[in-house]
Amino acid sequence: MIIAIDGPSGSGKSTVAKELAKRLGFACLDTGAMYRAVTYRGLQMGFDLASIADLDAPEAPQDVREALVKVANDEPIAFEYDEFGQPIKVEIGGQDVTRQIRTKEVDSTVSVVSACSDIRTALVAQQRVIGAASDTIIEGRDIGTVVFPNAELKVFLTASAEARAHRRVLQNAERGVGDTDEQATLELMKYRDKYDSSRANSPLSQAEDAILVDSTDMTFEEVVERIIELAQERM
Ligand code: DC
Repeated sequence: MIIAIDGPSGSGKSTVAKELAKRLGFACLDTGAMYRAVTYRGLQMGFDLASIADLDAPEAPQDVREALVKVANDEPIAFEYDEFGQPIKVEIGGQDVTRQIRTKEVDSTVSVVSACSDIRTALVAQQRVIGAASDTIIEGRDIGTVVFPNAELKVFLTASAEARAHRRVLQNAERGVGDTDEQATLELMKYRDKYDSSRANSPLSQAEDAILVDSTDMTFEEVVERIIELAQERM
């Protein structure tokens, strides 16, 4: 069974997906971490990703585009899980990037990398292989629309931008990595919402058959229980 959870950044997808995986005994897959890992490799190779508006545009530096597409195709992304099925490590090409993918630099450049058509094609192929291996909760932006359009359950999880920025800042403080300035986080979040929703390739959008869960005024427990209820109806 595939449970697809899509929604904007900071809607709580990752934390909810991890808790659902634990309670339902499913694997979980954070596809955003995969786009982040490729972005981190680009920064590590010394590319000035912040100066690029659109990697698919003819004026985009072709050497950067080619190098990133090569990373997405040739450097497999692997997740390591603890005994409760909770993800504890992200690797790309054998390199541990668990913390590196959560920095401010990655936050502010990942939208451009994830809008690139050939990078998406490469990572979607990896996601389909991972998801097909077992019962999986997959979270991202295009899971219900593109990656697994036949998922048994599709949830579109959202919340107001203010609530999402607040939660993201708390999560960054807890992890000890990433921005903890709430106003700056809110602005970046609004920018990313707009970029992710308006891009040409697999924009963030609610699948027709997805169930909308607006968590603005819901507790974490209420969100988890609601999705478990929906999953049980379909099992
Ligand atoms: O969920 P996140 O903030 O870690 O995602 C990082 C970026 O990757 C975000 O800008 C949107 C993009 N993304 C995507 O385009 N498709 C996915 N399936 C997951 C994430």
